[in-house]
Amino acid sequence: MAQDTPHKTRSIAIIGTGYVADFYMKSIRLYPDVDIVAAFDIDAERLSVFCAHWDVPAASSADELFAALPDDGLVLNLTNPDAHFAVSQACLLAGKHVYSEKPLAMRMTDADTLADLAVAHGLHLGAAPCSYLSQSAQTLWAAVRSDVAGKVRLAYAEIDDGYIRQAPYQHWKSESGAPWPAEDEFQVGCTMEHAGYYLTWLIQMFGPVRTVVAASAQLTGDGAAAHDLSIGTLFHTSGVVTRLTCSIIAPHNHEIRIVGDKGVLELDECWDNLAPVRFRKRMRIRRRLLESPLTRKLRLPEKLAHPVPAKGGSATMNFFLGPDQMLQSIAAGDDPKPAMDMALHVNEITLALQNAGEDSGALPMQTRCDPLPPQSWAAHLKGGAA
Ligand SMILES: NC(=O)c1ccc[n+]([C@@H]2O[C@H](COP(=O)([O-])OP(=O)(O)OC[C@H]3O[C@@H](n4cnc5c(N)ncnc54)[C@H](O)[C@@H]3O)[C@@H](O)[C@H]2O)c1
Repeated sequence: MAQDTPHKTRSIAIIGTGYVADFYMKSIRLYPDVDIVAAFDIDAERLSVFCAHWDVPAASSADELFAALPDDGLVLNLTNPDAHFAVSQACLLAGKHVYSEKPLAMRMTDADTLADLAVAHGLHLGAAPCSYLSQSAQTLWAAVRSDVAGKVRLAYAEIDDGYIRQAPYQHWKSESGAPWPAEDEFQVGCTMEHAGYYLTWLIQMFGPVRTVVAASAQLTGDGAAAHDLSIGTLFHTSGVVTRLTCSIIAPHNHEIRIVGDKGVLELDECWDNLAPVRFRKRMRIRRRLLESPLTRKLRLPEKLAHPVPAKGGSATMNFFLGPDQMLQSIAAGDDPKPAMDMALHVNEITLALQNAGEDSGALPMQTRCDPLPPQSWAAHLKGGAA
């Protein structure tokens, strides 16, 4: 029946129809007022499979896609990180608002160029990830603001993804059959790929970062691969200090713990929009100091603030929260600067973490010592052989 068909009032177009585009499609389908006017990919076969699977119109070029998109529409740039700059630049030059997958650009000078272009043309420019808009992140932030944990001093956020090179990733495929782009992921680096998932939360809660002290290293793979471990200490302007770890080596751990004067706020998974937020009160029991083994679950009054798609891969995330907010801002005539500034700041910090290496701000050690021999009673291990 016609009255059941929602009126499609908001237009988007997709450039890059690979692995992540299917995740976006599952999220976009939760917004019946959103019309996908065109999709384009330089890989014609992939474009055709994607468009047939999702019943989306294919464009034969980026220019054809731009022509199909109204001026108040939004381009989602879901291409590979190395293509982000050129694709976003083409969108802005065509007068189109852009929401880019992360990173905004692989070099800060390119990110700045995009921002200058967006300002000059009065366009919106933003970048994923948008999980900071999720129910879980907003609940955590509300808990921080409500002083549940008291004055916050420190936060530890981890995005360790397991020893990915030993995972059967050759078998990972998106819903419409795109393979997980392993080589691209290894060459771009897990920090470029993942740091934003917590950086956005940390900046949202504790303000911008004035100094990054970081180290990063490549511990697996060949010479073409990027650093696959980074550990950063972030000094926020608010005085809060946070530590962010990214690796594709250490066992999966996507936990955040926020330490305040009254106890610890915690959440287990930044890739789950509905992850519960818990509080552990700090207490003294006789001569001991401990965080309570019993946790208090914290909730917002709203039952569910936004739609969430069924679990896809390792994530339960609505990838359209960011584009949805940008479309609302465009329609309302809001100032594009805050979202753009956030994207630039996240890009700058991410690059600092990914590329820190061993020497940035490092203190070379002057002393050395020999490794110590084991104790005689600890020389042989039982059960050690695989
Ligand atoms: N793979 C994931 O799990 C995942 C999750 C979240 C975000 N992302 C991000 O999504 C983006 C895309 O990653 P992906 O996994 O979908 O990669 P992918 O390689 O599967 O897909 C990228 C697609 O972009 C196309 N493309 C490249 N350059 C283009 C250009 N100039 N014009 C048009 N199309 C072009 C490629 O042909 C390919 O089909 C990356 O920024 C990545 O960080 C990936």
